[in-house]
Amino acid sequence: MAETPSKRLMPSDIRARKGKAPIVSLSLYTAPLARLAAPYCDFLLVGDSVGMVLYGMDSTLGVTLQMMIDHAKAVRRGAPESCVIVDLPFGTYEESPEQAFRSAARVMAETGAHGVKIEGGSPMAATVSFLAQRGIPVMGHIGLLPQSVNVAGGFRAHGRDTSEASRIHDDARAIAEAGAFSMVIEGVVEELAVRITREVPVPTIGIGASPACDGQILVADDAIGLFSDFKPRFVKRFAELAPGADAAFAAYRQEVQARSFPAMEHCFGVKK
Ligand code: KIV
Repeated sequence: MAETPSKRLMPSDIRARKGKAPIVSLSLYTAPLARLAAPYCDFLLVGDSVGMVLYGMDSTLGVTLQMMIDHAKAVRRGAPESCVIVDLPFGTYEESPEQAFRSAARVMAETGAHGVKIEGGSPMAATVSFLAQRGIPVMGHIGLLPQSVNVAGGFRAHGRDTSEASRIHDDARAIAEAGAFSMVIEGVVEELAVRITREVPVPTIGIGASPACDGQILVADDAIGLFSDFKPRFVKRFAELAPGADAAFAAYRQEVQARSFPAMEHCFGVKK
């Protein structure tokens, strides 16, 4: 039986897990999934992947702050005892540290979340520091940055050449020095994730990175096989729920058409 968290961790507890037991997390957006996942996760992320996974968008760029707030509230209702971190979406933090503070403060005040995540390395260091000094725990996100997909050349592994690897390494250092309590490393070559994890003093949370990271994250819908349009290399399906759902909906259609659903046991005011 896997060891499960016995109490809610705060961002400072996650920070203190560096080099200790691996940190387990999932990105999810709804109360029912949060309720199911919470007993097995050290923190829950309300990721802006919500735009692609739940809303069928082509990228995360159309996600709004209001969408993140609404989904963060749902996750908090489903998992009131969990540490919840919320992505700041594209366009709500990059302009200035002040803009980032306004967005983060809204998320924290309206949802009761425990911290925010922002994408970007060295160029975001001043913003991470501004937020951290004003009481907002910040998780960084380096490597493949889905919000920068238009400049970074699509969803590809990062850090294959030495100049890109060294830039990502510098990003990690800058974000850690600026006061991030942790950082996601997404879609980088394995050996680079190992080196960064060894060097930075805060936990690295890998996705498409390395088992050596201090923790791992997956999108919950990917992990349980609900989102079956495609499967990136870094995803492992721990269950395949989509075929079960397909079979259930087919059976439902068949029974409705055969008038065998609803049966009398599903109807009101029927004598036994
Ligand atoms: O948006 C998201 O779900 C994420 C995780 C996959 C790290 O950023």
